[in-house]
Amino acid sequence: MINLTHTITETQTAIQKQISEGKTIGFVPTMGALHEGHLTLIRRAALENDFVVVSIFVNPIQFNNPEDLAKYPRNLNADIQQLEGTGCNLVFAPTADEMYPEPDLTEFDFGQLDKVMEGKFRPGHFNGVAIAVKRLFEIVTPTKAYFGEKDFQQLAIINKMVSLLQIPVEIVPCPIVRETDGLAMSSRNARLTPEQRAEAPVIFKALSSVKENYSWFIPDGVKQLVTGEIQENHYFRVEYVSIVDTETLLPFEDWQDVEHAVVCVAAFIGKVRLIDNIVLY
Ligand code: PAF
Repeated sequence: MINLTHTITETQTAIQKQISEGKTIGFVPTMGALHEGHLTLIRRAALENDFVVVSIFVNPIQFNNPEDLAKYPRNLNADIQQLEGTGCNLVFAPTADEMYPEPDLTEFDFGQLDKVMEGKFRPGHFNGVAIAVKRLFEIVTPTKAYFGEKDFQQLAIINKMVSLLQIPVEIVPCPIVRETDGLAMSSRNARLTPEQRAEAPVIFKALSSVKENYSWFIPDGVKQLVTGEIQENHYFRVEYVSIVDTETLLPFEDWQDVEHAVVCVAAFIGKVRLIDNIVLY
């Protein structure tokens, strides 16, 4: 049976009992609207830990677009039903007042990491993510915490925050989970119309084709190719295509300048903003 808590005190009591019995705690932070991508993280957490905690909290301070926050899908009962059989032991679903009795004014210094890509187009977003995840880590005190690689930059920010604050947790990156046609799973996909949904795999098609032949071009040429292929589809408006070092998230001029490179994309299809990425090498 899954235990549902809403307050920090009852959550900490339940978790501390497990820790006092020598159990390891696996943690999957989410904003709900659970899909197979989340469930994959949770099943993995259950394989690798004795006790699994999932948080469901639509974190208001990471939204820079009020419409996006208002439209974010929320259905706690449906989420809990989906969690049955995944190995989740406890769902922590706090209110915003419970999480932030006082506004948390922390300003993290992530250097360049939060100035590029998502950070450039969503000012304050990663600071809000980091404040929420720090708070959740303090409450849950996980042994391991699981994050999907679809949010590639978020993962880099969380790793940086954990190292800056020396939080004793192992961050486990997990591969992107895709629909059979290649669309990266996301809670936002539910907002696509059937027509938009049919076109949405264009992003992954463009990324997959450059994965095969990127070395024939310079990085900037690959950027143009991916942008062109997505933009050719009139449903899409590309916000950015960035080819960056997987460590620093900074662009580079030649393939040999970096050890590992990733192509990251954000594009609007109608009013829905989708992100995706592919590691080239
Ligand atoms: O990836 C998400 O769902 C959110 O950014 C997170 C990590 C739960 C923080 O609110």
